[in-house]
Amino acid sequence: MSAGKKHVVKKSKIHGSGVFAACRISEGERILEYLGEKIGKEESNRRGLIYEEMSRKSGGGAVYIFELDDEYDIDGNFEYNDAKYINHACRTNCEAVNEDGSIWIYATRDIEEGEELLYNYGYAFEHCLDHPCRCGFPECVGYIVAVEDRKKLRKILRNRRKKLNPEEKTCTAQNAEPSLTETDNAQTARRE
Ligand SMILES: C[S@@+](CC[C@H](N)C(=O)[O-])C[C@H]1O[C@@H](n2cnc3c(N)ncnc32)[C@H](O)[C@@H]1O
Ligand SMILES: [Zn+2]
Repeated sequence: MSAGKKHVVKKSKIHGSGVFAACRISEGERILEYLGEKIGKEESNRRGLIYEEMSRKSGGGAVYIFELDDEYDIDGNFEYNDAKYINHACRTNCEAVNEDGSIWIYATRDIEEGEELLYNYGYAFEHCLDHPCRCGFPECVGYIVAVEDRKKLRKILRNRRKKLNPEEKTCTAQNAEPSLTETDNAQTARRE
């Protein structure tokens, strides 16, 4: 860990690399900034499609674009941006906050040294079935989706499963058929 850093990047059980607490972090503490290049939506869509294609080929599955506001996004695909490695989970300990055009990651509860930093990517419901979630928490909804859309997703998955197998009483979300949609997997932050 470099001096002053509260985090460290290392291999994650959820996916590829993740970001972990390098010391004890208190609720409400600012941890690190999501750094990168501020770009317009058109450029963001262009780069997003390229990154998605590259990640599909490499199997890495990583697109590091963060939605800043209605006009701009942050392309965080740079070596100096450790925050790009933060994984999504259905149980979180961090949140991303838009502070006057800068994205900062804050602790939403006390975090012990060694815990993986996790926030909700807030993906739109329309695209979530393209992004299975492997966070491993008991409350995992099966897909990377915004908190406000979890209920809706659970209901749809339940109905689909019933149609596929009317006899079946319980089943995991991963059994649902994904529907392919256009590219949109920019992460979102709470606005301050
Ligand atoms: C911003 S990157 C996060 C860092 C990533 N682990 C890496 O090594 O590059 C986002 C990508 O990580 C993967 N990812 C993050 N959270 C995930 C989760 N809960 N379940 C499955 N894949 C996840 C997905 O492929 C997603 O597109
Ligand atoms: Zn999950």
